[in-house]
Amino acid sequence: MANLYNNLNLIDLNDYSVSWWEKLLDRAHEIMADPSAYVESCKGKIMGTLFYEPSTRTQMSFQTAMLRLGGTIIGFDNPATSSVAKGENIKDTTKIVSGYADIMVMRHPVAGSVKAAALTADCPVINAGDGGHLHPTQTLTDLLTLKEEKGSLEGLCIGLCGDLKNGRTVHSLIKAMSCFKGTSFVLISTPELALPAYIKDVLSAGGHPYKEVSSLDDAVGMLDVLYMTRIQRERFASPEEYEKQKGHYILDKKKMAKAKESMIVLHPLPRVDEIAIEVDDDPRAMYFKQAKYGMYIRMALILTMLEENSLKVPLITGKVHNHQKCSNPLCITHKETYLPHYFRGDGTMLECEYCDERTLVE
Ligand code: CP
Repeated sequence: MANLYNNLNLIDLNDYSVSWWEKLLDRAHEIMADPSAYVESCKGKIMGTLFYEPSTRTQMSFQTAMLRLGGTIIGFDNPATSSVAKGENIKDTTKIVSGYADIMVMRHPVAGSVKAAALTADCPVINAGDGGHLHPTQTLTDLLTLKEEKGSLEGLCIGLCGDLKNGRTVHSLIKAMSCFKGTSFVLISTPELALPAYIKDVLSAGGHPYKEVSSLDDAVGMLDVLYMTRIQRERFASPEEYEKQKGHYILDKKKMAKAKESMIVLHPLPRVDEIAIEVDDDPRAMYFKQAKYGMYIRMALILTMLEENSLKVPLITGKVHNHQKCSNPLCITHKETYLPHYFRGDGTMLECEYCDERTLVE
């Protein structure tokens, strides 16, 4: 039976109110001020970390966060060492682990996979990145970094540069920052790696000014924040297509010289070559500090999700249309074919509940 009204998942940050995010940011600030006060906060609790895709920061910061709260961890960081290698589906693996753990963190290479897991899980599920779709806890990390380093989340001009098509951190951050007054966006990419239409719709709906440009050199001087991203090699259909895009944007000292003194550089990491090592010593380079903020916000998130019992956030708001296929070939419904085909909306256009892609009614 699907868990359509499970209230304790974090699949998409925008399922929650801005005031809920702000409470998390305040809590992370308090934890940073006195981490020792929290060493027994999750004593006796177990977190399951299911990483079907490689990770350094997200996995280890979640694990460290739970250990620093006095809890313990189980899980895998390589599905090849679990029964996934024998052909077990997401539903069965996550159902079992959710019976062992009090909270579960999952990363998977396919869009919509974590929502699929949450549909039948028996404990709260946190999305640690689902394919090229969303990465809500990276966004919480980014929001904490912006709040701590810029003092406010309002009135910022944010440049996002690189793989805006496949970068799930970009999609989640734009959705979140569109909720704050005075945000404007500069989208810096090649035409091939431009932002998907459904995320542009978020910008238009919020009335936020944005421009699409191809030159980082021309854009860097107008920014309060530059969010650099890696070209996501693993999301390309062929190595040749990746080769055409790689190395296009490189932030170096010369470009930093054109930026405001107050601009900060963020990057979800890992980097490949898009930020030259020479930039690391610039006081505006905030990406290593950003990764550390990620541990504190995840401590706040784990604490809050294990305590929360009042919120009601439905996982699914649409209806089943089993005859209809999602237009996104990278959607989980094409891989795990037992999943009900949930879509929002009606008329000629439907939105997939798992990956958010729009699909013309067949
Ligand atoms: N930012 C981020 O998601 O890094 P990892 O892939 O190392 O977890």
